Amino acid sequence: MKNELTNDILKVLYTEEQLNERVRELGAEIAERFAGRQPLFVGILKGSVLFLADLIRACPLRCDLEMMAVSSYGNATASSGRVRINHDLQQDIRGRDLILVEDILDSGNTLCFLKDYLKAKGAASITIVTLLDKPSGRQKAVNADYVGFTVPDAFVVGYGLDYAQFYRNLPYIGILKPEVYEKS
Ligand code: PRP
Repeated sequence: MKNELTNDILKVLYTEEQLNERVRELGAEIAERFAGRQPLFVGILKGSVLFLADLIRACPLRCDLEMMAVSSYGNATASSGRVRINHDLQQDIRGRDLILVEDILDSGNTLCFLKDYLKAKGAASITIVTLLDKPSGRQKAVNADYVGFTVPDAFVVGYGLDYAQFYRNLPYIGILKPEVYEKS
């Protein structure tokens, strides 16, 4: 159905059904790996929110949940590599098995920083789950333990991912028409 959001989408990369299926697979794999343990899911705001909500429902584990918000210094299109914490954990994580949930791993700056930060806080283990991996953007040597989809070097939005804070509520992931970000 065409509307003011979908008009800006060049191509649908992953449909709602494909996302559902992949998230259920990831949830089952994670649940098997952490069976009998009590991991702490840490969602990174804001992009991970939709993925996180679906992933934890696909993970029948005794687990709890924290959110962190971080941002990179610098302009909006290129990551500067310096990361600032805007919202921190609300509990002691010493000895905990963390499952870090991201919508996209691009330059790696965010996850590189978070891994060091959370290790220093005493996490027993850190497992990274990202819905999307964009290896072409990588600046830091960081990899995810679980990847939903590997994406090409294109501007992807939807299912939590934004452009200028919009499009997060699209139920699918699509490539944004270049004229949308070129005109602003
Ligand atoms: C996005 C995404 C990751 C980060 C990945 O967040 O959610 O946290 O960028 O990029 P990197 O690998 O280059 O560090 P963003 O800063 O856009 O904030 P948002 O989640 O609120 O959209």
